[in-house]
Amino acid sequence: MPFAIKVLCYRFKMLLLKLVGKVLPFKWPTVLEGPGSALQLCDNIAAAGHQRVLLVTDEALAKLGLIDPIQQKLSTAGIAVTLYDGVQPDPTVEQIEAGFSVLQQHNCDAVLAVGGGSSIDAAKIIAARAKNNKPVADMVGLFKVRKGMLPLYAIPTTAGTGSEVTIGAVVSDPARHMKLPVVDTKLLPTAAALDAELMTGLPAAITAATGMDALTHAVEAYLSRMSSNKTDALALEAARLTMLNLPTAVADGKNLEARQNMARASHLAGLAITQVGVGYVHAIAHNFGAYYHTPHGLANAIVMPHVLEYSLPNCHERLAELARACNIGSASDSSTQQARAFVERIRQLNQTFNIPGQLEALQLSDIEAITDAALSEAHSTYAVPRYMDKPQCQQLIGQMLAT
Ligand SMILES: NC(=O)c1ccc[n+]([C@@H]2O[C@H](COP(=O)([O-])OP(=O)(O)OC[C@H]3O[C@@H](n4cnc5c(N)ncnc54)[C@H](O)[C@@H]3O)[C@@H](O)[C@H]2O)c1
Ligand SMILES: [Fe+2]
Repeated sequence: MPFAIKVLCYRFKMLLLKLVGKVLPFKWPTVLEGPGSALQLCDNIAAAGHQRVLLVTDEALAKLGLIDPIQQKLSTAGIAVTLYDGVQPDPTVEQIEAGFSVLQQHNCDAVLAVGGGSSIDAAKIIAARAKNNKPVADMVGLFKVRKGMLPLYAIPTTAGTGSEVTIGAVVSDPARHMKLPVVDTKLLPTAAALDAELMTGLPAAITAATGMDALTHAVEAYLSRMSSNKTDALALEAARLTMLNLPTAVADGKNLEARQNMARASHLAGLAITQVGVGYVHAIAHNFGAYYHTPHGLANAIVMPHVLEYSLPNCHERLAELARACNIGSASDSSTQQARAFVERIRQLNQTFNIPGQLEALQLSDIEAITDAALSEAHSTYAVPRYMDKPQCQQLIGQMLAT
């Protein structure tokens, strides 16, 4: 089939998805915001009458002592807290099953995720596993979490994924080089706390990478052809907050104001993508994660300038609007110049954060399979501004080979 006809088919599919999106029952979480809000969330959990909570986190965070005050507060409120700290970056089915078995042993009636996107995603699927008597593999895909999940509460400790407000969770299958999405409106947490106090110890490199994930969400949501006035406002504000605060949060991790603004940016960007999806940056980055375990935000940061450069002819007005919202470029410049200035700023940010333009781990021999997987992901779900065919995508990925 000629590529132009294929593009028409993709666009038609996206139109249908947009219509479906309009009737989806999003039940947004209650959001507490500000330093100290994590402990306030514990009051909410107690007020909801939960008695046995499974606290899902990763070992590094547990060792840092970040969760101690939370555990204490819940215990003081008479709640039995069981810790599951077996989540690792890009959680696997095994880690989720292990968490589920702890949940069963202790008969938990709610789940609290404290951590980055990996802990929150794992907690979502553990909580869903508790209500749906089927293996994780059978929940992969769209709207397969039929019976909902146990009440889930989320305290993000990174500012990037926005997972506390998205309908998605990602599970990794390292053996098959795949990152599999579980997507369902029933995966939305009951409540979340955006608390910068938990983020001040996040190392600079992870702050940078996760912050670039938030920026990618804002940009891809804004460029999506499914976007609406509502998601545009969320994406523009998320981009503006990130451009303004991420360099400070990276340079001065203890700066609570910059951290809190990044937590908000990540959240707003999450709200936007969960309604309109992402784009080629994520489609390619997911596969870098699946093949090489490249951290999600880092992969996005590397891929984003390449994809924006390719997309620019079809979206220079939208990129220029992003530039103006972020105060980048000059008002007297043409929209193409402003769009270029925006892409250039992303490159500069990467440079400042020591994020390379290429991916060291990328193997020439993997490019074809990565291309196939990325195109299949993008063309079934993302309303991108400019489609690419296989040779174009291969060439774009080839630009990221380390020289
Ligand atoms: N569900 C969604 O909507 C969604 C969106 C984007 C990404 N994701 C997924 O989320 C995962 C990535 O999550 P992430 O980028 O937040 O990273 P992460 O959760 O994998 O954490 C990265 C590292 O940071 C450490 N860390 C986290 N918070 C810390 C803190 N406050 N102080 C010190 N160290 C801390 C962790 O211990 C870990 O080693 C990927 O699997 C990605 O696919 C999900
Ligand atoms: Fe992301």
